[in-house]
Amino acid sequence: MAAGKTSRGCLKSCCCVTAILLVIIAVVLLALSFTIFRPKDPKITLHVEGLQNIDLSLSMTNVKVNVTLATVITIENQNYGSFKFRNSTAHVHYHGDVVGETPVEERYVPARDKLNMTTYVIFLPGKLLKNRHFLADVGVGSLNLTSTATLPGRMNLLKIFEKHATVYNRCNISIFILTQSVESICHTKLKL
Ligand SMILES: *[C@@H]1O[C@H](CO)[C@@H](O)[C@H](O)[C@H]1NC(C)=O
Ligand SMILES: *[C@@H]1O[C@H](CO)[C@@H](O)[C@H](O)[C@H]1NC(C)=O
Ligand SMILES: *[C@@H]1O[C@H](CO)[C@@H](O)[C@H](O)[C@H]1NC(C)=O
Ligand SMILES: *[C@@H]1O[C@H](CO)[C@@H](O)[C@H](O)[C@H]1NC(C)=O
Ligand SMILES: *[C@@H]1O[C@H](CO)[C@@H](O)[C@H](O)[C@H]1NC(C)=O
Repeated sequence: MAAGKTSRGCLKSCCCVTAILLVIIAVVLLALSFTIFRPKDPKITLHVEGLQNIDLSLSMTNVKVNVTLATVITIENQNYGSFKFRNSTAHVHYHGDVVGETPVEERYVPARDKLNMTTYVIFLPGKLLKNRHFLADVGVGSLNLTSTATLPGRMNLLKIFEKHATVYNRCNISIFILTQSVESICHTKLKL
């Protein structure tokens, strides 16, 4: 009698332990799916350099010459998966007109890592000058541009799962004429 009671008690506690373990595993998996496996938007920042080396008034009058500015794109992958994207081109818009473009070369961005990519922006001053907002904006002392880039690629998680992934990036770029400085704020979205 007494022995039966203990084994039944043992069975009960075994069941309890198993149930608790299952709950813990479920919670851990759920937590993982919300943290590790949930895609996080990468962070992309732009640093446009070399504006101070250009005689703006000269390049604005000689509209046939393209102005090329060195640019560093920093890509920060916050995911636990690596991201590989193909060659693409980013476009720079000014009040609806495309006034520049930037080649973005294919790259592998390791998981939870960050890399700098050097490239350049080819500005077409002729397009800028023809825009009816240009003179007013020069009067105010700043030009506000936007850049858009779509980076198609693949995301690889734990070297097992591979998925199509596309990064959509959009930046607001302000060029301040007096100080010849450039500021940018970017918004980046990852779609799996
Ligand atoms: C300026 O850039 C555009 C677009 O990349 C190109 O078609 C054009 O030939 C370039 N012009 C000069 C003078 O480099
Ligand atoms: C991507 O661009 C680089 C440099 O322009 C070139 O060498 C490479 O072949 C291109 N890759 C593809 C897949 O087109
Ligand atoms: C990328 O460039 C920025 C500024 O240009 C620098 O502060 C940073 O250390 C660089 N990061 C890497 C990973 O090279
Ligand atoms: C461009 O944007 C900056 C910062 O948002 C703002 O201070 C400036 O007035 C804007 N310039 C024009 C011409 O819209
Ligand atoms: C860029 O500017 C537009 C219009 O001024 C604004 O709606 C948008 O939120 C800005 N984007 C970023 C990333 O600041």
